[in-house]
Amino acid sequence: MEHRILLTGSNGLLGQKIVNLLRDRQHTQLWASARGTNRHPIRGGYTYVEADLTDYSRWKDIFADFKPTTLIHTAAMTQVDQCETDHSLCDAINVTAVEQLTSLCARYGTHMVHISTDFVFDGSAGPYRETDAPAPVNYYGGAKLKAEQIIQASNPDHAILRTMLLYGVTPAMSRSNIVLWARDSLMKGKEIRVVTDQVRCPTLAEDLAQATVTAAMREARGLYHISGSEMMPIIDLARKVADFWDLDASLIHEVDSPSLNQPARRPPVTGFILLKAQTELGYQPHTLDQGLALVDRQLQALEA
Ligand SMILES: NC(=O)c1ccc[n+]([C@@H]2O[C@H](COP(=O)([O-])OP(=O)(O)OC[C@H]3O[C@@H](n4cnc5c(N)ncnc54)[C@H](OP(=O)(O)O)[C@@H]3O)[C@@H](O)[C@H]2O)c1
Repeated sequence: MEHRILLTGSNGLLGQKIVNLLRDRQHTQLWASARGTNRHPIRGGYTYVEADLTDYSRWKDIFADFKPTTLIHTAAMTQVDQCETDHSLCDAINVTAVEQLTSLCARYGTHMVHISTDFVFDGSAGPYRETDAPAPVNYYGGAKLKAEQIIQASNPDHAILRTMLLYGVTPAMSRSNIVLWARDSLMKGKEIRVVTDQVRCPTLAEDLAQATVTAAMREARGLYHISGSEMMPIIDLARKVADFWDLDASLIHEVDSPSLNQPARRPPVTGFILLKAQTELGYQPHTLDQGLALVDRQLQALEA
């Protein structure tokens, strides 16, 4: 069977990693979409289509032209604080666009793989299983939960992959992540303030990309938790980064979340139980040390 896969967010961290896995793949046609110009460094082996998530008529045309067998939806408004201060833009991108894409999937018989977040949970009782009750504490988490519920109610042919604290590197990134930010700051000798009261399982972008592609190829259905397997306070991750690149850990200062004065509250302890993904998708994430080593090799190639 030939897979016709439509990917959203192909300029993002996860999106670029998925393009790497699906371009030039046998029996697979990939249409990779993002807003603006294509920022993936490799142009062959797939078709790039420019499309803004808020432009519904454009998506109707893309579905009519390509008739995708699978939609992988990674694009989102991912800036949690911006979602807290601009509800209508967050709703347009993280809820309404998902509703419209879901209805197109239902109309064209398209299997949908959607990326969601640990921020659907309140962080009072992590690590979480797929069966635990969500209770978001900020607008971004609430919008991503609404999107999950819309998909679950409208198109049974879907998999929702929740993830957390992604790290990794690609050329021309939309935004940084904790690993790159800590490394860059410490390399420049800058002091950084890092939270002690938020606990997460850092997730290597390659691991999530592989799980997403597996879910797409197997036409998996239902909810899956996908993250790294090591759970730690975010400050420990920053210290690991210092240790790995032999940087001055005394520049890292402990703070609690309230002292950062961020517009959006963060759930304190999330973390995932990965058993379902391990059992049903054969998911086997890298260790943090392996993930940092991979990022290091990729940075060396980019900086050469
Ligand atoms: N990063 C995390 O720690 C994390 C944690 C939990 C869940 N997630 C979820 O994982 C998914 C991928 O995250 P990521 O870290 O790869 O995010 P990312 O690097 O910020 O990529 C998101 C992409 O969405 C695109 N986008 C935003 N608004 C758009 C619009 N109106 N039209 C078209 N494209 C638009 C962005 O485009 P531009 O490049 O042009 O800005 C960006 O390329 C998201 O669904 C996110 O909610 C991420």
